[in-house]
Amino acid sequence: MTGTGTEWWRTAVIYQIYPRSFADANGDGMGDLAGIQSRLPQLRDLGVDAVWLSPFYTSPQRDAGYDVADYCDVDPLFGTLEDFDAMQTAAHDLGIRVIIDIVPNHSSSDHAWFQEALQTAPGSVERARYMFRDGKGATGELPPNNWNSVFGGRAWTRVTEADGTPGQWYLHLFDSTQPDLDWENPWVRDQFRSVLRFWLDRGVDGFRVDVAHGMIKAAGLPDYTPPADGGSMGGGSATLEPDISAEPAATPPFWAQDGVHEIYRDWHAVLAEYPGDRVLAAEAWVDPLTEVAKWVRPDEMHQAFNFAYLETPWNAPKLRRVIDDSLAAFSGVGAPSTWVLSNHDVVRHASRLALGAENLQGHGIGPKTEGLPDTVVGLRRARAASSLMLALPGSSYLYQGEELGLPEVIDLPDSAREDPTWFRTKGERYGRDGCRVPLPWEAAAPSYGFGPSASSWLPQPIEWAGLARDQQMGVAGSTLELYTLALGLRRQFALGLGTVDWLPGFPPEVVAFRSGDVTVIANTGETSVALPVGDVLLASEPLTGRTLPGDTTVWLRA
Ligand code: GLC
Repeated sequence: MTGTGTEWWRTAVIYQIYPRSFADANGDGMGDLAGIQSRLPQLRDLGVDAVWLSPFYTSPQRDAGYDVADYCDVDPLFGTLEDFDAMQTAAHDLGIRVIIDIVPNHSSSDHAWFQEALQTAPGSVERARYMFRDGKGATGELPPNNWNSVFGGRAWTRVTEADGTPGQWYLHLFDSTQPDLDWENPWVRDQFRSVLRFWLDRGVDGFRVDVAHGMIKAAGLPDYTPPADGGSMGGGSATLEPDISAEPAATPPFWAQDGVHEIYRDWHAVLAEYPGDRVLAAEAWVDPLTEVAKWVRPDEMHQAFNFAYLETPWNAPKLRRVIDDSLAAFSGVGAPSTWVLSNHDVVRHASRLALGAENLQGHGIGPKTEGLPDTVVGLRRARAASSLMLALPGSSYLYQGEELGLPEVIDLPDSAREDPTWFRTKGERYGRDGCRVPLPWEAAAPSYGFGPSASSWLPQPIEWAGLARDQQMGVAGSTLELYTLALGLRRQFALGLGTVDWLPGFPPEVVAFRSGDVTVIANTGETSVALPVGDVLLASEPLTGRTLPGDTTVWLRA
């Protein structure tokens, strides 16, 4: 059971490292574990409590490492297990906890488990590890049901049997190189208990659980027709401007099935065998928040990503509503709320918050997208939105580069794109590469200091020289200094343990609340508003006199 209520993760600021794009130590253009280790002091200076690393496991990289071929080893692209240990020790020495990603819904098709399944006959124990089914139609030529892949195209691929004849189909909710495991099979459960223990024994502080809502499918795998606005990771209702008051669509038969909870109770018990407070954080794209809260009941996961918050536009009434709903839903089960604005799957919020047209999650933006954002407005809103988020009680997730105000990269050459979404939709959806471009550290260095060579696996825009960390460090008003100040004040005033006491008397486009000694006011409108008394602790834009301009957030000591 969840312990005393004082666990570190309840209030932590957790920084997502996307290993491919954080820092490259060997100059091959791909980030690596040694690169991460070398840059940890900068994260300590920023003031984060923990890092979450996206996958660095053995993988053919068909989905940027979310296609795992060996759950207990490091891909040579990123280094070795020894490099992992050294990086983790360095992080712990700096007081930074380490959370790693675990990808249980599917493996890579290169995994030995799947290769063995292909080499054995239908009905074998090896096939029973995955979701193999006979096709429909006279000769099994039709897929077993009508499900589509999150990345586009159908969710089934037909195999060729050992005798060369067309054979069974296997399910893949994502790319065809990511076959879904069958979590009804106790063998699969045993394997993953061992994977958890392998990393817990090495000292990790927890796991971010990939596609935590997808592991169990409805019995009989019934057909499913998504609602007209569908197509997101959530399987049908996640858009940039969700009507958070709307009733959710019928649950798709591949998401949020009750059976997943038994698995997480089991995992909770595994983590509880280890000393210290280890954390399980669910990637659960589920509506509404009261449903998400089921993932963090006291004997299940500890945290769940608050994607309803991420999907809320820069709009005060909607923000107040989602904050209230989040606090109510999570506290209803004794869990902290989490907050998040960006990650490796969504358009960076410095662009997203200024988009002029709807953009479904996962579709991404590119040169031909309608309503491309104004970068100045986007950055201003992002700074204001992050300043609001970091004042909220609970735990916040940051995505690497948001502390530099990085925008989504829109004009990546088509030839550089790697997201399977781009390929599976034949370029109809740009996908997620635009938020995954390697970080700029030093304006004057090759690859802006990402690595020692000029190479970076996705090209970096020239404008990023101006956003490089060394250009912002110590520069008053820079986005990096804003984040550093926010994290310091958040700690000083214990805002992670704070409250949200709404303050009356402000126009509707203003979010205003008190948390302990701090008053937080965010103006999502265009008209300036008068500020109440109180020393200014933080302002997301320069202030002139006692007024708060539009798209600006301020923290006052009241
Ligand atoms: C999760 C990851 C995403 C990945 C998908 C399939 O949603 O965040 O990057 O593509 O799962 O593993």
